[in-house]
Amino acid sequence: MIQLRPTQSIDLDFVRQAERDPENRPFILQWTLAEHEAALQDPDMSHQIIEQASSQDPVGYTILRGLANAHRSLELKRLVVTQKGQGYGQQALRRIQQQVFEQYKAHRLWLDVKEFNKRAYDLYRKVGFVEEGRLRDCWRTELGFETVVVMSMLEDEYRQQLLQ
Ligand SMILES: CC(C)(COP(=O)(O)OP(=O)(O)OC[C@H]1O[C@@H](n2cnc3c(N)ncnc32)[C@H](O)[C@@H]1OP(=O)(O)O)[C@@H](O)C(=O)NCCC(=O)NCCS
Repeated sequence: MIQLRPTQSIDLDFVRQAERDPENRPFILQWTLAEHEAALQDPDMSHQIIEQASSQDPVGYTILRGLANAHRSLELKRLVVTQKGQGYGQQALRRIQQQVFEQYKAHRLWLDVKEFNKRAYDLYRKVGFVEEGRLRDCWRTELGFETVVVMSMLEDEYRQQLLQ
């Protein structure tokens, strides 16, 4: 089982190491320490560590953006799990959905995922995200121009899922 807790400055070494890890780097944007520090202070963002509930060992981190959004539309800005394939990503997403729709009373949760990131795309579909469309060649990274898939989940879809 995992739990989420607010990231503190002392956690940022772990966060940046996870971000730069070759297993994760191709799939996510790289932030500077200053960008992460700013996110910790930003009332519009929620920067959280994903940890094993029993040991409290960190197994990833996640960032939500748009807490102050007038449209009640929140963005899952980042999700990284360092110990992959053990169900932590799925558990973290369920917990994030709960926070977004129950605690923050959002109407929409959205994200973008690189087109070639099959593992993440499949996982998002599995927990109920719907594909909205593709932004072709919208990012220029060290890999060249990259296409991202925009996905979202609405509040009523979240509630429907709880009934299943
Ligand atoms: C994507 C990520 C968050 C998933 O976390 P995870 O803990 O590894 O995923 P889980 O163990 O919960 O697996 C959940 C589902 O992912 C999918 N999945 C897992 N491994 C996969 C693989 N190698 N290929 C395709 N799909 C895969 C499956 O649907 C799986 O469910 P199932 O195996 O129970 O059927 C994690 O791998 C990660 O941090 N990747 C690098 C960073 C990243 O891509 N972040 C998302 C950016 S949008």
